Amino acid sequence: MAKAKAVFVCQSCGATTTRWQGKCDSCGEWNTIVEEAPRTLPKGATGGKGGAKINFVGLKGQMAAPPRRKTGIGELDRVCGGGLVAGSAVLVGGDPGIGKSTLLLQAVAGLANAACAYITGEEAVDQVRLRAARLNLENAPVHLAAATNVRDIVASLENMPHLDVAVIDSIQTMYADTVDSAPGTVTQVRTCAHELIQVAKKRGFALFLVGHVTKEGTLAGPRVLEHMVDTVLYFEGDRGHHFRILRAVKNRFGPTDEIGVFEMTDMGLREVPNPSALFLAERRGNVSGSCVFAGIEGTRPVLIEIQALVAPSSFGQPRRAVVGWDMARLNMITAVLEARCGVALSGSDIYLNVAGGLRIQEPAADLAVAASLLSALSGDPVPAEAVVFGEIGLSGEVRAVAQRDLRLKEAGKLGFKKAWAPKQSAGNEKRAKPAAGDLSVKEIGHVQDIVAMFGIDGVQRGH
Ligand code: TYD
Ligand code: MG
Repeated sequence: MAKAKAVFVCQSCGATTTRWQGKCDSCGEWNTIVEEAPRTLPKGATGGKGGAKINFVGLKGQMAAPPRRKTGIGELDRVCGGGLVAGSAVLVGGDPGIGKSTLLLQAVAGLANAACAYITGEEAVDQVRLRAARLNLENAPVHLAAATNVRDIVASLENMPHLDVAVIDSIQTMYADTVDSAPGTVTQVRTCAHELIQVAKKRGFALFLVGHVTKEGTLAGPRVLEHMVDTVLYFEGDRGHHFRILRAVKNRFGPTDEIGVFEMTDMGLREVPNPSALFLAERRGNVSGSCVFAGIEGTRPVLIEIQALVAPSSFGQPRRAVVGWDMARLNMITAVLEARCGVALSGSDIYLNVAGGLRIQEPAADLAVAASLLSALSGDPVPAEAVVFGEIGLSGEVRAVAQRDLRLKEAGKLGFKKAWAPKQSAGNEKRAKPAAGDLSVKEIGHVQDIVAMFGIDGVQRGH
C-alpha cells in the first residue's frame, strides 16, 4: 500500500503545507507547524456506529427536578441572546483556570427541567463531583461522564432518550479514532467538533464546547472552530482580579459584543447585575490621572475608571504600558495631543490602566483617556462627579458616539452630576435632550477644550 503523505498543519491558523517550515506563510506565526497524519476514514467510522456505550452517572444519583427551564444564570442567558437555542453549538473559550468549567457546571445544574449531559475529558468524575458538592449543586440532575473518545460520546448522546443540553469540557482533550494525530491538534479538534455538532443538530440539543486559548501553538486554539459553531463566547478576566467577563464575539441567535459580568467567589461564580457600581467600588475621588469613562458593552452601559500615570522618562525611549486598552490607540491620542495641542508627552513614560481588569474596545474611550493623561500631567484631578466619553479624530476633533442617552442615564443613576461629551450629531439634537436628566453636559468640540481646562500651556497648531 502506498504510504500516505504527511501534511504539516499550522496550529495557530490551520493552514496546511507539504513540508515543515519554521514560519507559517499564512499567519506569520513562528514554530506553529506540526506534522499531522492525513485523515483516513476506516470503514463505518462516521457517527457513533460501533462505539461502546459510556455510562453516565448522576452528580448524586437522585433526580430532583424543580419546575424551571432556564440556565438560572441570567448573565449567561443574556450573552447567549436570551437563552439557549436547541440544536445550536456554543464555543466557550478562555485561558485555563479562568472558570469555564465552573460556569458551565453551574449552568447545567441550574437547568432544572432539562436533561443535561456533562462530559469531562480533563477531570475525573470525582473531581467534578467535589466541585459540585462545594457549589451545593450535587442534587442537580446532570448526567456526568468522563470520556474522551468522540465515537463513544456521539453514540451515547444519540442514544440518550432525552437530551436538552450537553457540555464537552474540553474540545482539546477529545479525540476521534478516525484521525491519526494527537488530541488537541487542529485536525483532531476540527473533526471532533464537527462530529459533535452534527449530533447536536440531529438530536436538537444545545451543545457547549469548552476550548482553551493558548498563546503557544502546541494546542489548537478555539479560533479554528469559530466558523463551525453558532455562538462564540470568550470568558475573560485577570487572575489577579475576581471579576470575570463573558463576552459574545459571534452569535447567530443574538447580539454580539454583549457582556455578562461575574465575580469568582469561594461559592463559584456570582452574577453581577450592576457592573458599574462594582467597577467604581474602589475608586478614590479627586485623584489626578483618574477619569470615569461612560462606556457601552453590548447593550448595556458600564462606567469604568481609567487611570493614567505620566512621569518624566529616564530612558532615551520612553516607556508606554497599557492594561485593558489598545496601545496603538494610546499612541494615536498622545500624538494628537502633541501635534494638535502642543502638549509635550514624547519625553514622558506613560502608564494607562483600566481598573477592574476589563478590556475596553470602544473608540469612545478616547476622550476619557485624553482627560486622564492631561489630569496626570497637570496634577489636577478630573472632577470626581464627572463622566467622560467621545471619540478623538486625527485633527483633534471630538466626534459623536453612539448611545449617548444610555451613557448619560447610567451616569445619572450612579450619582454623577457632570458629563464631558461630544457635541450632538445634527439629527439627534431634539431626541437626546431630555435623557441627560439633572446631569450638566459640557460639550467638547476639540481636545484643545480639555487641554485648556487643565490649564496646560499648550500651543495649538494646525487647528
Ligand atoms: P475552572 O472552572 O476549573 O477553570 P477552567 O475550566 O476555565 O480551567 O476554575 C478554576 C479556578 O476557579 C480555580 O483557580 C479555582 C477557582 N474557583 C473559585 O475560586 N471558587 C470556586 O467555587 C470554584 C469552583 C473555583
Ligand atoms: Mg476546566
